[in-house]
Order: sequence, then structure tokens, then C-alpha cells
Amino acid sequence: VVDIRKLYAQTGMFTYDPGFTSTAACESAITYIDGDKGELLYRGYPIDQLAEKSHYLEVCYLLLYAELPTAAQLEDFEARVTRHTMLHEQMVNFYRGFRRDAHPMAVVCGVVGAMSAFYHDSTDINDPWQREVASIRMIAKLPTIAAWAYKYSIGQPFVYPRNDLDYAANFLHMCFATPCEEYVVDPILSRAMDRIFTLHADHEQNASTSTVRLAGSSQANPFACIAAGVACLWGPAHGGANEAALAMLREIGAPERIPEFIARAKDKDDPFRLMGFGHRVYKNFDPRAKVMKQSADEVLGLLGIENNPTLQVAKELEKIALEDSYFVDRKLYPNVDFYSGIILDAIGFPTSMFTAIFALSRTVGWIAQWKEMIEDPEGRIGRPRQLYTGAPSRDYSDVETR
Ligand code: ACO
Repeated sequence: VVDIRKLYAQTGMFTYDPGFTSTAACESAITYIDGDKGELLYRGYPIDQLAEKSHYLEVCYLLLYAELPTAAQLEDFEARVTRHTMLHEQMVNFYRGFRRDAHPMAVVCGVVGAMSAFYHDSTDINDPWQREVASIRMIAKLPTIAAWAYKYSIGQPFVYPRNDLDYAANFLHMCFATPCEEYVVDPILSRAMDRIFTLHADHEQNASTSTVRLAGSSQANPFACIAAGVACLWGPAHGGANEAALAMLREIGAPERIPEFIARAKDKDDPFRLMGFGHRVYKNFDPRAKVMKQSADEVLGLLGIENNPTLQVAKELEKIALEDSYFVDRKLYPNVDFYSGIILDAIGFPTSMFTAIFALSRTVGWIAQWKEMIEDPEGRIGRPRQLYTGAPSRDYSDVETR
């Protein structure tokens, strides 16, 4: 690793690295990825162990405070999060300003950004107490924000948070309960939901996290920074891939049609790519995809829909692609988005909600990374350089003479 800053100070030399394939923009002690081994650690703990043995709020504590909590610390943290699950009542009017057919990500992005207009007492980034309150507020309120985006899109009344339910169960309740009938959260589904939250909680310097850090480096308020992360996550090459992956699997429809889509993915004249396949860092199995595949089997099995045709197509597609030299040579494996859509679909979510659920899960990671950056005494504004390719200096000419 070369510290280019010193080289720049001494020689004026800087690097050209579009897509940041080989440039570390920060030091971080939060998440570690070994892309060749297919390893992902949160604060040193392997993701598969956390997905199996822990739960989302404990993982949030770990990401934010660097250690697993004691029982008392966890109880206190859960109580603090639970206290903040409601949205300011005025925000109901804010929702009503959106068109009903707005994409939930458009609504989530707008509402998160607007939080700075509602919670002035937690926008001062130089005050550690305000930083802490802003963090807890966002972790607590994102399920409400996402659930209300869903309710609004289907024309149903908003369901207020239930603080007697755990984090994932409360989210499902806010999405699927109605005033007309009781909705009892199935523990299988809330466990699956919680695991999806955990698997998406952080992933070091991906595009949306880097966006949050860059926005935060200008000392923008925390709500504005997280809204920037939501906006970036929406793209189909990033968080939007889960929506695109399920759409693709449904379009394939039956195992017999897989070769046709594999051929398209390999054709360089066709922009089609296998969605949910490939990753900038993983050049081996994405460990989250492994857990997600296992979870899809479990959830669909427990729901008695293990013969779900989309799951069959996904498994067959994975098998065929992993025996094909195009994918093998380029080290393209299923990523976290390949199986997550199948689980979310089985739970009852429309595809338009998939990326909003990713955003709510990732909020803690964005916050942990933002706090780490703000608390770094050597932190400075992010300011990438460029290689200028435009016109050389020239004189302005009057419009009559052009
Ligand atoms: N299907 C077909 N070919 C692919 C795919 C794919 N899904 N992904 C990469 N390739 C090919 C490229 O065409 C390229 O081939 P070439 O060397 O012959 O030109 C080679 O593999 C390398 O691809 P790059 O685009 O250079 O890889 P990069 O690291 O820039 O992109 C990305 C990674 C964006 C994830 C890419 O694999 C992709 O578009 N995948 C599909 C979208 C997706 O699933 N995104 C979710 C990512 S995970 C997340 O955000 C949670």
C-alpha cells in the first residue's frame, strides 16, 4: 500500500483510478472483506455466525460500539431504539404530498432527508450527544419510514409502531396489519426478516457508504448524509439489483429457458447481465448469498412452498453458470441479491419494496461509517481529482462572430 498523499506533497503526482478499484479512501475498523476467500467480518465476527446466533439489534450495537453488548447494555440499547420508533405526526402530511404511485425508494429518500427539518436537536455534528440521538433516531425510524412508504403506495392507512414487538416483527406488523383484521406476525417470517437485516447491515466502502462518507466529509447533517446513501443505493448496479434479480428470475420462468439467458449475459453486444451475479470485491462466493440461499430453503420449506418455481430457476441458474467458463474465468458468483428477493417475495413484499428494505437494513452501517469518519481527528473533506480532457484555454467570442 502506497500513501499517495506523501507522493503528491513531494512530487505533485496523483493516481487515476476510475471506479476506485484500487484506492482506499479511508481507514476503517468496522467491516472486513476478503474477496478471494469469500469472507465477511463485522468487527471481527464472521457474518454466518452472526446470522445464525445473533439478531439485528445486537449486530447494530456491535457495528456502532465495536463490541458485542452485555445483557444490560443490549437491554438499554433496545429500549433506546424502541423509544424512537414513532415519526413526528406532521410527517403524515409530508407523505401525503407524494403521488401514490411513487417508488418507495423515492419516498424513503425524501422522508429521510426531511428528518433534518423535524429533528433540529440532533443535527449538530460537533455534539457527540446529538450524533448519538440522530443515530438512534434513524435506526429506530427507518422501519416506520419504509413501512409507511409501502402502506401509502397501496392506499392503506398507516400502521403505528408496536413497541411490544421486536424490531423485525414490528416492521412486518406495520407493513401487513390493517385496522380491519388482526395480523399476528409469524415467528418464522420475522426471524427471516431479521436475518435479511443482519446480512445487509454493513459492507465497508461500497458505493452508497462511500457516498455517505463523502457527503459527511463536508459536515452535512446526518439525515442529509443518510438520504444521500439511500439515493445511491437505489441504482440497479447496487441495492436495486435485488428487485432486478427477481424480475429476471421470473422472466426466465422455467429451467429450459436458462441457456437462452446465459447466452445473452455472455454476449458483449447485449447489455443484459445476470442480475444478482458478480461483485467488485468478491471473487468467490459472497458469504451472504450462501446464508441467504440456506434461509430461502428454510423459509419456503417452513411455509410449505419449497417447490416455488422461482427458487428452482435460481438454483438451476446458479449451477449452470458456475459450470460455465465465462463465469468461472471472470470469478462471477451469486451475490447477496440473488436469493434475497425470493425470501422477500415469500414474505409478501412487492419487488418495489426490496431496495427500501435494503436501505433500512444498511442504515446502521452507514451511520457507523459516518460516525467513524466524523470522530477521526485527521478527517478532511473528500475531494477527488480528475484528468481534464476538455478544450484548452481559449478566448470568449461574441455570438455574432461564432
Ligand atoms: N453478468 C454477465 N457478465 C458480467 C456480470 C454479470 N452479472 N458481472 C460482470 N460481468 C462481466 C463483465 O461484462 C466483464 O466482462 P469482460 O471482462 O469480458 O468485459 C467482467 O465480468 C467484469 O465486470 P465489471 O463490470 O468490470 O465488474 P465490476 O466490478 O465493475 O462490477 C458489478 C461489479 C456491478 C456488481 C457487476 O458484476 C454487475 O453488474 N452485476 C449485476 C448487478 C448486481 O448484481 N449488482 C449487485 C452488486 S452487490 C450489491 O450491491 C449489494
